[in-house]
Parts: sequence; structure tokens; C-alpha cells
Amino acid sequence: MTATIIDGKAFAAKVRGQVAGYVAGLKERGVIPGLAVVLVGEDPASQVYVRNKGKQTVEVGMNSYEHKLPVETPEADLLALIGRLNADPAVHGILVQLPLPGHMNADLVINAIDPAKDVDGFHISNVGLLGTGQKAMVPCTPLGCLMMARDHLGSLSGLNAVVVGRSNIVGKPMAQLLLGESCTVTIAHSRTKDLPEVCRRADILVAAVGRPEMVTGDFVKPGATVIDVGINRIERDGKRMLVGDVHFESALAVAGAITPVPGGVGPMTIACLLANTVTACHRATGLPEPEGLTA
Ligand code: GUN
Repeated sequence: MTATIIDGKAFAAKVRGQVAGYVAGLKERGVIPGLAVVLVGEDPASQVYVRNKGKQTVEVGMNSYEHKLPVETPEADLLALIGRLNADPAVHGILVQLPLPGHMNADLVINAIDPAKDVDGFHISNVGLLGTGQKAMVPCTPLGCLMMARDHLGSLSGLNAVVVGRSNIVGKPMAQLLLGESCTVTIAHSRTKDLPEVCRRADILVAAVGRPEMVTGDFVKPGATVIDVGINRIERDGKRMLVGDVHFESALAVAGAITPVPGGVGPMTIACLLANTVTACHRATGLPEPEGLTA
């Protein structure tokens, strides 16, 4: 038996449709959600992300505000811009694209964002709120993973979840979210002893290590749900290609369900950014939480 392939592209389109519905409802009240994206410098990958974010923001009916600053911009100028965006009632979400140039302190910059507008969920207040099970802005990639896991499995209560990777952006918030769903959660990483054995305990296996195809079929418990967060550009047989942190073919033969790369978690990240922006706008407007778009 081969696994169900979870179609992240279709799921993301569904989430964007839900977001567009909430945006239409807000417009009837005279409110247009606005997302400000700040890019410092000209990193090519960041430019692609920012362009896609802007395009999809407009497609769901929200306002997109792009701020492109030269790489040599003083940190104080970026902080001043964030201050203006914090104070601007037309802006409900603020995202500062990472990585920032070396002369900037990313923690300082992120923590200057109003936590209520921190649609990345990286502000220390949101990290603390998530860690204590309170209403937070949740990082987009783990939120997308959670939505897919819930959609495929229904209740996650009591399941064994193993998250491979301990980053602040994915691994740690993912573990918090799964704990919030009453999973038994293990965070594994590059130093974990007998990683395959630890992973084989997982009913839900989330791979977020940034190592191409490291998680092979022998890491997977038969029937498990495998969520691959990796996006690795590699060259194979003279061809440039995109692979995940999971060795897709071998895992597919063992898993119950698996997200592909590309077309799995990737498309969900921007969809969840839009979801977070509409959630932030609802909260700012005093409306109830949008259903199905939050953790
Ligand atoms: N750079 C790569 N991924 C992300 C992300 O999710 N948010 C921000 N702000 N920067 C990124």
C-alpha cells in the first residue's frame, strides 16, 4: 500500500478562498485588511518570496504595502519605519523578511513590531503566548502543517508526534502546537541518539532539519503521517531540482500519508500568512476569530 499524497497546493487554494470570504465580510464593514512587507537588500530568494506574498495578498482582496530598503539602510531607519507601520490603522499585519543584513539585530527588529500585527508570530510576546497556550499569532509554516495534519487525521489527541528540527521558526512552535492538540511530543535534532528509532515511534512525523532527503523510509512507522517542511535545492544528474528533508519514494512506500516537495507545506506558508493577516484584522476590529484559520 502506498501513502495518500497530501495536496498542499489544493489545500492552500482552499485556505485562500476562506480568507477571501472573510476579507469580503470585512469590506462590507468598511475595513480592508492590509499587510506590510519589508525587504532590506536584494537577496534573490527573498525577492521572489516578497513578490509572491504581494501578489497573493492582492488576489484575496487585501491591501499590500511593500517597503524595499537598500541593503545599507541604518537599523534606526528600519526601526522608525516599523514604528510608523505599528501606528498606521490601515496596516493589520507587518512582516520583515529574513534574513536581515549582518549589521542589523534581527531580534531587536522583530521585537519592535506590535505583537498584534506580528503575522509571522516571531515576536517574543507571541512566542510566550503560544508556549503558555494563550491566544497568539502563530508562525505560518507550523500553522500550515497543523492544518494539514488536522485535515487528514481529524483529532490528533493522544498521538505520538516527533518533530525533527529545533528551529525557532518551525521546530519549536510546531512542537507547541502539537502539544496544544494533546499529542505526545518529542523534539529530535541532529544530535539525537538513534534518530531512526525515535522517528519510528511517530504517528505524526514532521521533518524540518534542512538536510536533503535525510529522513528515509526506515525512519517511518507504517501508516504514519509524514509532513516534510524541507525545501532544498540540489543538483542531481546535472539537473537542478527541489527536494524535501524526506526521501519521498522510500517514505511513500511506508507512510499512511505524506506531503510532497514541491506542492506540500510550501504553498501553505503564504496561505497561512494571509490567514494570520485576516485574523489580526478581525482582532483589531473587535470581531470573533475567523473559523478554521487559527490554531
Ligand atoms: N524568510 C524565509 N522564511 C521567512 C518567513 O516565514 N518569514 C520571514 N519574515 N522571513 C522569512
